[in-house]
Amino acid sequence: MTEQTDLTARVRDAYDKSADQYDSAGQLLFHPLGKTVADLLELKPGERVLDLGCGRGACLFPIAAQVGTEGFVLGIDQAPGMVEACGADLEARGLADRAQVRLGDVQSFTVDRPFDAISAGMVLFLLPAPQQALAAAAAALRSGGRLVATTFPTENGRLAAGWESAEILAEVLSTYLPEGVDDPWQLVLGLNGPLVSEESTASAVLTAGFTDVDIRHIAAKSRFESIDDYLAWTWTVTPRMLWELVPPERRTEATNAARTALRSLAGSDGSLVFSCPTRTIRAVR
Ligand SMILES: C[S@@+](CC[C@H](N)C(=O)[O-])C[C@H]1O[C@@H](n2cnc3c(N)ncnc32)[C@H](O)[C@@H]1O
Repeated sequence: MTEQTDLTARVRDAYDKSADQYDSAGQLLFHPLGKTVADLLELKPGERVLDLGCGRGACLFPIAAQVGTEGFVLGIDQAPGMVEACGADLEARGLADRAQVRLGDVQSFTVDRPFDAISAGMVLFLLPAPQQALAAAAAALRSGGRLVATTFPTENGRLAAGWESAEILAEVLSTYLPEGVDDPWQLVLGLNGPLVSEESTASAVLTAGFTDVDIRHIAAKSRFESIDDYLAWTWTVTPRMLWELVPPERRTEATNAARTALRSLAGSDGSLVFSCPTRTIRAVR
């Protein structure tokens, strides 16, 4: 198995297992970000949109609402659990008349007819080959079509400043991870690829065939009632991949250590605000 297929398979396994619980604790983080993605696409009723890495529909649902009954949205995700749960949510929300989900790898897909817009909410950083996904997205868009993606801001190959709780968690977990790992996020995020900095991100988007690249930052946050709520949430999103690298017999000890270390961020009522600075990318085909 190559490094690329190995990471893609680990991401698929982690998100498949967390599909039922995905982003369900605290004040939802990814759903407000998904609404931001939909708004940045400046959709018109009747448009056809492709949602890459649709997960539990954070981008897909607001997009489906904005394109209306005459529009169409197709979500692609490689985790069977996500596709199943998102498809059921579409039915429950009465959006199945204009939205569908299907299994697929966003690094290698083709479409029958070009789309008007493409969203990629919080998925590019998980890909070993984000440039392949950007090229596939460019090929799937009509001329003048829009791409909007959100991803984690990085500086010099590390998460940018402002991720206090994620930094603390990574520092604690590094004690329990295989030796020689300088930055645990390197194990699960594509920090060494074209998303390594804002400049290289812009350059990757341009190279894929887009123009008018506009990159911005927004300060996303989520509040958890307690540190334990936050730690439970980390099992439903990307940090799950780090937790799974901790030997099972050491997970209780690691959880206790994380709980102690995170106390410095907790408010007097025990709540914890998770700060998630986010990079938005908008471009035109
Ligand atoms: C952090 S979640 C984001 C989900 C959703 N877009 C949102 O904003 O909440 C990342 C999603 O991307 C999916 N994903 C990761 N790598 C993928 C790949 N190579 N192809 C398709 N989906 C992928 C995961 O299964 C997961 O559902």
